[in-house]
Amino acid sequence: MADKADSQISEDVPKAVSRRNFIKGVITSGVAVFSASYLFRASSFLQGQQAAGVGERLITLNVNGQQRRVDVMKQETLAWTLRYKLGLTGTKLGCDRAECGACTVLIDDIPYYSCSVLHHTVRGRKVATIEGLAGADGTLHPLQQGVVDEQGFQCAFCMSGFIMTAVGYLKTNTNPTRQELANGISGNLCRCQDYDKILTALMRGAENMRRAKLG
Ligand code: FES
Ligand code: FES
Repeated sequence: MADKADSQISEDVPKAVSRRNFIKGVITSGVAVFSASYLFRASSFLQGQQAAGVGERLITLNVNGQQRRVDVMKQETLAWTLRYKLGLTGTKLGCDRAECGACTVLIDDIPYYSCSVLHHTVRGRKVATIEGLAGADGTLHPLQQGVVDEQGFQCAFCMSGFIMTAVGYLKTNTNPTRQELANGISGNLCRCQDYDKILTALMRGAENMRRAKLG
C-alpha cells in the first residue's frame, strides 16, 4: 500500500523533484501557511485598528514601576499593548485564549493571563512583566538565576510565563514543597514538556529567593 502511494506521489511530482524534497516542500509550505496566517491575523488586527482609529485614546499604565503613556484601542488586550505598543516582547503570546500561560504577567502581584485582560482594566494598578524582574544594575532576579543555574527549559518560549507565575505564587508560599510548587504553576503549559527540569529550576530559584532574604 505504501509502495503504491509512494509511486503515485513520484508520478505526480515532476521528475527533477525527489520524494524527499517533495516532503520537505510540504513541510516548509505548511510552516509558511502557519506563519502567513499569523501575520495575516496580526496585520488584519492592525488594519482594523486604523480603520476604527477614532476609538484610539491615550492612557497611562504603571508597568514595571514606570508610568507609560500609550495609545490604545478599547478592545486591545494587555498582552497586545505590552508587546506591540510598549515593546515588552518578553511577554509571549501562545494560544491567545487563556489556555497556555505564556502571556502571564503580575497585576498587583497576582499572576494573570494578559491575553485575556483588557488594558483599561489595569489602569491604576501595578503591572509587572519579565523585563521588570532584574535589578537596575542587571542582577538577575533569584528565580531567573535559578533557571540559569539549573539550565531549565528547552526552547524557553514558555519561560517568562512560568517565571512570572512562580514569582506570584512564591509571594504566597515562600517555602513550598516540590508538589506545592507544581500545583502553583499548573496553569502554565510547556510545549516541549520539560516540566521536571522547569520545576527543578524554579525550586532552585525559590531557594535563591529565601537566601537573598536571609542575606
Ligand atoms: S497566550 Fe495567554 S494563556 Fe496562552
Ligand atoms: S521549553 Fe519549549 S515551550 Fe517550554
